[in-house]
Amino acid sequence: MSTVSHAALASSLERLGTETAFEVLARAKALEAQGHEMIHLQIGEPDFDTPAHVVEAAAKALRDGQTHYCPAPGIPALREAGADYLSRTRGIPIDPARVLVTPGAKPFLFFGILATCDPGDEVIYPNPGFPIYESVIRWAGATPVPLKLSEENGFAFRAEDVEALLTPRTKLVILNSPANPTGGVVPREVNERLAKVLANHNCWILSDEVYSEMVYGGTHDSITTHEGLIDRSILLEGFSKTFAMTGWRMGYASVPAPLVEPLTRLFINCHSCTAPAYQLAGVAALTGPWGEVETMLREFAVRRELVVDGLNALPGVSCVKPAGAFYAFPNITGTGLSSRELQDRLLEDAGVAMLAGTAFGKFGEGYMRVSYANSQENISRALAKMGELLESIA
Ligand SMILES: Cc1ncc(COP(=O)(O)O)c(C=O)c1O
Repeated sequence: MSTVSHAALASSLERLGTETAFEVLARAKALEAQGHEMIHLQIGEPDFDTPAHVVEAAAKALRDGQTHYCPAPGIPALREAGADYLSRTRGIPIDPARVLVTPGAKPFLFFGILATCDPGDEVIYPNPGFPIYESVIRWAGATPVPLKLSEENGFAFRAEDVEALLTPRTKLVILNSPANPTGGVVPREVNERLAKVLANHNCWILSDEVYSEMVYGGTHDSITTHEGLIDRSILLEGFSKTFAMTGWRMGYASVPAPLVEPLTRLFINCHSCTAPAYQLAGVAALTGPWGEVETMLREFAVRRELVVDGLNALPGVSCVKPAGAFYAFPNITGTGLSSRELQDRLLEDAGVAMLAGTAFGKFGEGYMRVSYANSQENISRALAKMGELLESIA
């Protein structure tokens, strides 16, 4: 046994949270290793392959010697392709000089909060929402101010809900549409009204739009396009979801001009640059054929119906139809179990992995997050197993 004694860890670590999804994945894998069957509906990544031409672009780039350091803000070709894509899809001109590239979209959450918030500043963020928002806000010493997303509003919010939370100390407002974990999409009218409110408030905005291509039966609207808000917004996009590239670690954003240099400095202090071969693959993704992406999106649309109809047929469960992303967020209060209890019973007794709504904040109690990044066959089997469990405890 080691007798080495260690110095204390940094006290700031007590404020740093995590993503429960990784913990549930580890428990599900451990049960599988013991021979239990497990159906994974906890996954936050598309179950599709990265488009073949994107993989080929990376392989070619590596063979061509793109194996060295490159500019910290991103290679010019990707900053231009990102600016083109954002200009085209958001309908406002985006200058490539304001587009920065990072390993995944996540670093923009981390560095974006660190670059804008001091201890004592208030940050409004969606709850239930992506858990990293609250974690990094706390780690930065800022005060998290949850914006409650409720089922009655289709898991979006009203402009007045945000207005009621704004104070002179509000430094940053984080928004996420289409949303993880709820699948909620903020309608254009709400963005228009909210933009008018935010235009009168001197704060930064971080609009996390990594699910922008996944809107069903409507179109994506970015808050940043209204009232000139783009000039004080981090408009965040990624490759993980749209191109099934979670493991590549590739993300990019249009950032306000005053943040270009500080964010680049943070990148230099942390990761230096994003792998150039993967950035060239990113150019291929944005500029190349979108056939495989479209196939994936069509399949998600079919699964959405399957999941929502299936959930609504279960005892004690009701589910509004999510307007975007690849998640459903059913209300499970009728089962008599808490979200955490149902998560554990599903995992251990039914062999179905899904996440308690509380993994996304306190306002997630009474809900589960169901990811439909799995085959129709597996989704149907998981729903049947969930049904059996719920019948047995009803
Ligand atoms: C809302 C949201 N933002 C950002 C991310 C981070 O994505 P990336 O893999 O690009 O870092 C995720 C991933 O799950 C997400 O759901």
